[in-house]
Amino acid sequence: MTHTSSPIRVGIVGYGHLGQFLVDHIQREGLGVGFGLAFVWNRNADKLSDSVPKDLILTNLSEFTHKKADLIVEVCHPQIVKEFGVHFLAHANLLVGSPSALSDSQLNQELRCSAQKHGNTLYVPSGALWGGQDIQRLNDSGSLKALSIRMSKHPSCFRLTGGLLSDWSEDEGRRVLFHGSVAELCPIAPNNVNTMAAAAIAATTLGFNGVTGEIVSDTALADYHLVEVEVTGPDGFSVTTVRRNPAKIGAVTGSATYNSFWSSLLVCKGHGGRVYLC
Ligand SMILES: NC(=O)c1ccc[n+]([C@@H]2O[C@H](COP(=O)([O-])OP(=O)(O)OC[C@H]3O[C@@H](n4cnc5c(N)ncnc54)[C@H](O)[C@@H]3O)[C@@H](O)[C@H]2O)c1
Repeated sequence: MTHTSSPIRVGIVGYGHLGQFLVDHIQREGLGVGFGLAFVWNRNADKLSDSVPKDLILTNLSEFTHKKADLIVEVCHPQIVKEFGVHFLAHANLLVGSPSALSDSQLNQELRCSAQKHGNTLYVPSGALWGGQDIQRLNDSGSLKALSIRMSKHPSCFRLTGGLLSDWSEDEGRRVLFHGSVAELCPIAPNNVNTMAAAAIAATTLGFNGVTGEIVSDTALADYHLVEVEVTGPDGFSVTTVRRNPAKIGAVTGSATYNSFWSSLLVCKGHGGRVYLC
């Protein structure tokens, strides 16, 4: 089925694994579901020349307004959210693929203000988080007491700052790398804990400082990442979920997360000046 109204114009910022997946999907299936490409940007534009039509390549990200995108999808790095997020929200809805950037409380506040001021939505994809909307409902009713998330992966799947996992051997088994607040964890593992960041955004009453995160390196996890979420409410209420996310050795992103991201994008049709978990 083809949509009759004009498609939502999407700007893709970042052309790594997720960016390529989304550009390909929009080109093949977009018009049928009401989405078209406005532009694609990558810091190295050479990577785009074989697969993206010339008129859709944006060479200077500061000139994004020329392309009149309705929705900008950041699938790049938290640093780009920091540099451009507020400007993006002044002109378009924003799907932020690197929500770990929001662990910076000042940036978090600035993004929320920009969304509100301009009536544009800051979309946060649930990624590998299961039950995000249930967490949000519990949060909004004032009943969320605690939330903790453990992500376990093969050591080759982690991208950590500060050499936290520079030494590992294939037979070492399980090693807890960090246990503490998601606020402290995000800068250490910005590419690995977007799922935890999404959870912290759903759980506004706890926030990044109040949600507990743990990352575990486990050489036994050659085929999947493990995401365990424990939610605590009042009077003994609790929910625990365990998600096995198939992933190849060395992959930062589980394979099911790509389709989850596409489903999230399809939700981004404008929900007013607020943060929206999708
Ligand atoms: N929300 C989620 O559930 C979820 C899931 C997977 C990945 N992510 C995040 O989405 C982003 C993209 O993921 P990916 O798997 O496509 O990663 P990737 O490494 O395959 O691609 C990232 C792209 O951004 C570029 N890049 C990296 N740092 C940059 C910087 N500082 N400035 C400009 N360009 C930069 C790289 O050259 C590359 O083209 C990452 O931040 C990742 O952590 C989020």
